[in-house]
Formats: sequence, C-alpha cells, structure tokens
Amino acid sequence: MRVLAVLAFAALPYAVSSKSTFDASGAQSVHSLSNAPDDLELLITDTFTVLSHPAFPRHSVRVKKSNFCDGTVAAYTGYIDVEARHLFFYFFESRRSPDDDDVIFWTNGGPGGSSAIGLLMELGPCNAVNSTNTEFNPYGWNDKANIFFVDQPVGVGFSYADFGPVPSNTQSTTEEAAVDIAAFAAIFFEHFKKFTGRPFHMAGESFGGRYVPLFAAAVLDQNARLVEYGIPPVNLASVMIGNGLTNYLDMLQSYYDIMCTPASLPPVETISACVRMKQAVRQSLTTLWKLRST
Ligand SMILES: *[C@@H]1O[C@H](CO)[C@@H](O)[C@H](O)[C@H]1NC(C)=O
Repeated sequence: MRVLAVLAFAALPYAVSSKSTFDASGAQSVHSLSNAPDDLELLITDTFTVLSHPAFPRHSVRVKKSNFCDGTVAAYTGYIDVEARHLFFYFFESRRSPDDDDVIFWTNGGPGGSSAIGLLMELGPCNAVNSTNTEFNPYGWNDKANIFFVDQPVGVGFSYADFGPVPSNTQSTTEEAAVDIAAFAAIFFEHFKKFTGRPFHMAGESFGGRYVPLFAAAVLDQNARLVEYGIPPVNLASVMIGNGLTNYLDMLQSYYDIMCTPASLPPVETISACVRMKQAVRQSLTTLWKLRST
C-alpha cells in the first residue's frame, strides 16, 4: 500500500503548493499560500493534494479522500512530509457533527506501535474481524469527534523515510516528531477553515505517556510563534493518556504496590511471591540507578 501510494503521487498531477520560504524577520512580506482547496470535501480520492504554509518551509501535508473503515463519514489519508521523512495519518470526521465536534489526535505507543492498532482494535471507526474484513465499531471515538490516527515515528506502520531504511534516515526522536506533529496541526487548522480554532485533544496510550506530553508542549511552544505570525493558535484543550508509561524507574516500583497491596484492588499475589518481588524490585532499582549514573 505504501509503495502504491508513493507511485500514485509521483505519476499523477496534483495541486502544487508554493514552496516559498518564510523569513521570520519579515523581509519576505508576500506569502504565496497554497492553492489547495480549503474544504476537505473538495479533496479527491485518487490523487494527493499538497498543503503547505510559508511559516513551515520544511513541512507540507499530502492528503486524499478515502472510503476506508467507516463508510458513514468522510475519511482521509495522507502524509506529513518533512524533507526525507514521511509520517502517515488517517483522518475520520465525526459521525455526529463534523462541523461542531472537537478534533482528537491519537497515537499508539511502543515505541514502534502503529496507530492502526488503536484504529482497528481499540477506538477506531471499525474493528478488524480477521485478516481481510472489518466490522463497524459503534463505540469508535469518531462517533462524537473528528479524529486523526498517526503512525510515528518514521519506520512505524506506513510512515517511511526516503533513501531506504538506513539508520540515519529512519531514526528519529520524540522531540523531532513533536515538532513535525505540531507543524502538521498548525497547517491543518490554518488550511481547513471550518476546523480553525476547534478544540483539539491529544491522546495516546502506553508509550504515548512519553509522546503526548512532548507533542502537546510543542504545540503550546509553537502557538507563541503562530501568534507572532498572525496565524490562529492551535486550540489545544486537553491531553488524554491511557495506561501511560512515563518514568519507568518510578513505575517499576508500583508493580509491587499493585500486585501485593490494596493500592487499587485487593492483593493478587501470595505473600511468598510478594517477598521475592519486593527484594527483586529493590535490586533492580539499585542496578538501574547505577546504570543511569554511569
Ligand atoms: C473474514 O470474515 C468475513 C466476515 O465475517 C468472512 O466472510 C470471511 O470468510 C472471513 N475470512 C477469513 C479469511 O477468515
């Protein structure tokens, strides 16, 4: 699917947007904005439309219409393009009221988990029933929200780097991804007018406990710049983290608390197992702290 998408992009004509660079000093006063349609409804299914913004000379967004997964709402797929890096996303409009409902960004964890896991097995508009079929999910979050599912970082799911999977191209940090995701949010909300200013929620699970706070911080940092440039800030309303992994050294200790004390539910382990666990946790922590300080 990835290869096909890239070929289609190379072979077919598409709405070309301006690639002008933006000088923060204001030396370049005329911004040539993208000529892509500013209504998602006008996008087409067989060709990518390219969006860009002068404030983000390194970033552009490729997007096309799709019929994937739901069937009752407008759906889109595309890439956040950052020079040689390309982050894949799905976007589903809300079943209730796309023109009024909030926008959610979703990422799975891992690191290395494709957001297709969340989409097809957890909170997406459809669930996979076997290797070839899906079924409608009445509990999908797009029942009452517009939602993005993003494959990140590069190398995960359909996200890829040019020049093949050599480490220097595919390795990317959460900090880098945060800048890319924030730029994407700005371009999306600026470009698709009906979404401009809409409340935005950034959500994830598991290793998303690391991703989501950094992504949200990047959006807030970027908002300060957007205001300077006269671009409406992204209306970040909340972050939502389920089963989040934040600081492993702190969390390791709570395995004992959960299994052996009434911290949440009654203890589930035997006293002898808990004694061994307590010792093991203490030893592991000592080792980890030593490793960390070297
Ligand atoms: C997958 O599920 C569909 C619908 O339930 C069924 O018709 C089809 O035979 C299944 N395919 C496989 C490979 O199990």
